[in-house]
Amino acid sequence: MKRSIFVLAAGMLVYMFCPASAGASGGSPSASLSSVEPAPVYRFWSPVLGTHCYTIQETEKTKLLSQYAQLWTYEGIAFRAFPSHTVDNLAPVHRFWSTSLRSHFYTVDEVEKDKLIRDYPEVWTYEGVAFYAYAAGQPPAGTMPVYRFWSGSLGAHFYTTSDTERFKLVSSYAGVWAYEAAAWYAYPPQAVTSVTFIAGPCVQWIASDSATVMWQTDVPAESVVHYGIGTPEAFAVSDPTAATLHRLALTGLDPNVVYTYRASSGPASQTGTFSTAPPADQSLRFVVYGDTRTDVQVHRKISAAIGASGASLVFHTGDLVSSGRDYGLWGMEFFEPAGGLMQSTPLVPVPGNHEYGGVGPLWFFYFFDRPLNEAWFAMTYGNIRFLGLDTNLDYAAGSPQHNWLVQEFQSASYRDATWHVVIFHHPPFTCTLGHSDDTTVRSQLVPLFEQYGVDVVFSGHSHAYERYSNNGIPYIVTGGGGGPLYELPVDTVPPIRQFGLSTYHYCVVDVDPAAGTFTMAAIDLNGQTFDTLKLSQPQ
Ligand SMILES: [Fe+2]
Repeated sequence: MKRSIFVLAAGMLVYMFCPASAGASGGSPSASLSSVEPAPVYRFWSPVLGTHCYTIQETEKTKLLSQYAQLWTYEGIAFRAFPSHTVDNLAPVHRFWSTSLRSHFYTVDEVEKDKLIRDYPEVWTYEGVAFYAYAAGQPPAGTMPVYRFWSGSLGAHFYTTSDTERFKLVSSYAGVWAYEAAAWYAYPPQAVTSVTFIAGPCVQWIASDSATVMWQTDVPAESVVHYGIGTPEAFAVSDPTAATLHRLALTGLDPNVVYTYRASSGPASQTGTFSTAPPADQSLRFVVYGDTRTDVQVHRKISAAIGASGASLVFHTGDLVSSGRDYGLWGMEFFEPAGGLMQSTPLVPVPGNHEYGGVGPLWFFYFFDRPLNEAWFAMTYGNIRFLGLDTNLDYAAGSPQHNWLVQEFQSASYRDATWHVVIFHHPPFTCTLGHSDDTTVRSQLVPLFEQYGVDVVFSGHSHAYERYSNNGIPYIVTGGGGGPLYELPVDTVPPIRQFGLSTYHYCVVDVDPAAGTFTMAAIDLNGQTFDTLKLSQPQ
């Protein structure tokens, strides 16, 4: 319970009547209801009171719908709980009403309940047990956390089991709603009879000893990943709580090994593979591509080509979808065309400007979750240190991203790597009919790259292929993954483009530690290599 509740209470108007509480009396909400099956808990919203109400009682639901329809709007089933104490480890969820705050409060915490009754009787009126659910600890398989939010401005709590609703409040309404904790555990709104994968599975993050597998299902279900070498049977990791966004970390893996995995949620499962990061003396192949938004057919072709290329890791230079705040685009524009690729090859993107475009939550950060930071990352893979930046965010001296980057440049992981690659969306050097040089990147990041010996820089944003060289560092623009192609005018601003082609493409890089080489090939939709770059380690 937030202390701010009581601060606010003094300044709130007093409502003389609480329709929702009219149907709820103290004690068990319905002694006549007795069942081992969970029952729906109905959710209502009152635009007048600015609060939600939850009830398991059919009589109260009927009363709100029939007598108080102007006050309460029915929103659907929030989750399923129990009307009575029919299972041993169920715990009562207590309901309070505050006339001054004009809202209900629910808690499974006996200490919190007793404190409200004892210390705040003028604010909170105890109404009894609303329903029975599971306290934190060991919730049974198939239940899901009910996330609790508090709004100081609304003077109300909010509870939801929805991953996407929780993310929406956290990312877009943080000024209104503060996430508090998982309040209790309950069953999903509907009994699950069939489960369908709607995104993934995909390997989101890879290291020499771990991998992160993510997938999304249409209904809440548990998460299981079986995995092993050859067949996915030797090991398993699982989360028995139900969710629609599933993310499990596989740890204790051996380096440079191809693992087969099977991701399962209820009766649905999908199989894929991934390779753990190789040691520094091992040859490897990775791919960089980007700007896959808009043309799904092109993205699908390029994804298939990358999947067949033998690359064990893929980086994306951003603009995954046309409008990253439009939740509906992510499946259609990204996870569907890239699904086959991502099922068997880890794909690590940086956010582009289109990830920040539109209205709504930044869904990029819902789907992609990296160990260090959701926006920028560092990864060692073989003898390469990769640094990914979010050039939509501040990277000026003194900013968190700048401080992190300098720290990375000065780290042992960076120094110990043979090759140093930086990836971000906005190119410091480009000359297309879509974009010209990003002067902020030029002035604030390029000097750092030169100071700390970056070997190659990859960007996107311009929908074409371009290769520049500036003070000895190659700058590759690879933005040909599906966005409408940009024409390339004659470049007149130094550094002058060394090579450019307006074509859909991806870049394959082969690193050979024995030979000391880093070789990149830019490949078009016909599989033809149209540009190469070869770097050799200084002897
Ligand atoms: Fe862009």
